[in-house]
Amino acid sequence: MHLVRLLLIAVVLAGMTSYALADGGLDAKKRKMTGDAMEVIIMRSTLAKNFVGAQKEISESMVQSVCTAVSTESETIMKRDKVKIRYAAIKYRDPKNTATAEEEALLAKFDKDRKLKYQWDEVTIEGKAHLRYSRPIFIEKACLACHGAKDKLPPAISKLYPEDKAYDFEVGDLRGMVQITMEK
Ligand code: HEC
Repeated sequence: MHLVRLLLIAVVLAGMTSYALADGGLDAKKRKMTGDAMEVIIMRSTLAKNFVGAQKEISESMVQSVCTAVSTESETIMKRDKVKIRYAAIKYRDPKNTATAEEEALLAKFDKDRKLKYQWDEVTIEGKAHLRYSRPIFIEKACLACHGAKDKLPPAISKLYPEDKAYDFEVGDLRGMVQITMEK
């Protein structure tokens, strides 16, 4: 009996997969966009966890081996999937990621409602309708080496980012968000 049930489940799953692949269009775009967001979030978290925090002096190149690597990878994904990837933060490190008033409002919403895991909306860019997927990014223990207490930050950070505001975070704090935008 078990075997029959397993077979039945396998057939249903196979059917669902082929349906999902065949439906194409908007859903395929949405899947790609959510996949891109997860890819950069997981990459940052994995790199941070593998980051050797034990060194006394974290060199310039080491400081850039986590989030700077994610920024570089984001450029690659933008070309690969024809999407725009934007990071926005109120307490930013790279000034280009400074949240606009609209982004600040969405960040406040994510911060207040921790059950809200993402938001979809539509924006018009150069007269063309675009889909936008926004997802919050939170601080984990591994992030603290470079985003924790100001007096413990690697000196290379203030040298590279004189305007840095992205410190004094604690585990669980909202760090910022990623937004994936794609033409509809
Ligand atoms: C090795 C040091 C280091 C670690 C560890 C680290 N970051 Fe960063 N973070 C940086 C640097 C440097 C930048 C600026 C990147 C750039 O210029 O592209 C940055 C930028 C960011 C940004 C882009 C927004 C902004 O403020 O410019 C986010 C979001 C972010 N970090 C989140 C995290 C999270 C979440 C973790 C843990 C999972 C983490 N970081 C771990 C060094 C680090």
